Amino acid sequence: MDGRLQDRVAVITGGGSGIGAATARLFAAQGARLALVDRDEDAADAMAEELCQSGAEAMALAGDVGNETEVDTHRDAIMARFGTIDILLASAGWSTGTSVPDTSAEMWNAVINTNLTGSFLWSRAVLDPMRKAGRGSIVLVGSQLAMAGGKANAAYLASKGAIVSLTQTMAVDHAAEGIRVNAVIPGAIDTPLLRRAFDRAQNPQAAREASTARHPLGRLGTAEDVARGVLFLASDDAAFTTGSCLRVDGGWLAA
Ligand SMILES: NC(=O)c1ccc[n+]([C@@H]2O[C@H](COP(=O)([O-])OP(=O)(O)OC[C@H]3O[C@@H](n4cnc5c(N)ncnc54)[C@H](O)[C@@H]3O)[C@@H](O)[C@H]2O)c1
Repeated sequence: MDGRLQDRVAVITGGGSGIGAATARLFAAQGARLALVDRDEDAADAMAEELCQSGAEAMALAGDVGNETEVDTHRDAIMARFGTIDILLASAGWSTGTSVPDTSAEMWNAVINTNLTGSFLWSRAVLDPMRKAGRGSIVLVGSQLAMAGGKANAAYLASKGAIVSLTQTMAVDHAAEGIRVNAVIPGAIDTPLLRRAFDRAQNPQAAREASTARHPLGRLGTAEDVARGVLFLASDDAAFTTGSCLRVDGGWLAA
């Protein structure tokens, strides 16, 4: 039986780790062909190798999602290999864990450049082939913190708040072209990014327990939890869903 993404070509930024890697595995299991973009070259290579070993088609591209020239070059390489791009998951992201007074302009720009500009640049890069094909699904990654608020993460929260607005405006601009644009809003997800954030706390174990307690479902999320939400948004199951923010947050925002 064909998978839910049979022969679709999916680009996943941040595909070497966490949510991006879990989504790559799930997409591959559903028949997708994958292009993984990550600034961690070894991680992207290892994930592409794992997917190929499992029988999927996958390529790795090392680079910075905030670098316009690299993004367009990578898009062209993906088009040369696969001939089309059907899905984008823009998962590359990071945070500094600092309030405004503790954030240098350099730190601010670096976070915005990955989390927000990287999502813009990759969306723009894939919109061209998607418009020609008359179909496509773009999934951006927000954060529960951008909606609920949170301490000492100013650039990160600002970037993730803007992701929601970018999702909505692109959804409106490209609906008539057959392109859907949605965002997934994770809660605290047990990935290397979150573990680094806990490690910045004075008491990492207490930080983990406090974060866990914020979820009415009583646990941290897994990357696979989020991947299943992304699969829904990326697939034809979400054919009438655009401009939406799908919470995969264990109830954080409802509480
Ligand atoms: N983990 C959480 O609790 C959580 C919660 C809400 C939102 N998110 C968001 O989910 C997304 C994925 O996070 P994760 O938890 O899987 O983190 P992760 O650190 O496990 O994976 C992020 C990947 O992005 C890559 N990356 C970072 N900056 C890059 C750049 N400029 N160019 C190319 N690649 C880059 C990293 O090398 C890494 O492989 C991020 O956008 C993050 O903000 C995570």
